[in-house]
Amino acid sequence: DFYEQLRSVHVEQLERKWITITLLVIGLLVVIIVGDAFFHGVNPPSKVETIDSAKLHLSKEFAESNLGVQLDDKGEIMVRMVAGRYSFFPKHIAVPAETKITFRWVSMDVLHGVHIPMTNMSTMIVPGYVAEITTSFPKPGEYPVLCNEYCGLGHNHMWSNISVIA
Ligand code: CUA
Repeated sequence: DFYEQLRSVHVEQLERKWITITLLVIGLLVVIIVGDAFFHGVNPPSKVETIDSAKLHLSKEFAESNLGVQLDDKGEIMVRMVAGRYSFFPKHIAVPAETKITFRWVSMDVLHGVHIPMTNMSTMIVPGYVAEITTSFPKPGEYPVLCNEYCGLGHNHMWSNISVIA
């Protein structure tokens, strides 16, 4: 009858109102997310430097012979390391204590992380990007280098170590 029709019309209007509100909210979120990505870029936390993770062995910088500890042009220590399932390469390096050291990390496969206790070394290593971190080791000794991003079944065994020499 008339009243039932009236009620159903009313319900439809209510539904339409809520659908409109829902769509507006979704639209707003999309604008915020896309806008943020557009203005700030979707990037790993360190400075943005890209590299082809599948061709590291062909890159000059991360070719096997160029990994490990080196002195740069200014006489500062530069360490280049590759993260891959399930280790960091080279497996072992030695550096001096209380000295500024710049590390450059790349991944040869998936997302890894690197954490060295007692230092500020903690970053993601995103495939396709170079992660650069400057640190120093407060005391001589053996420091573990640990992966702190889940990267597969061997994640818990992904580590290497650094000897810090007085
Ligand atoms: Cu590499 Cu976890």
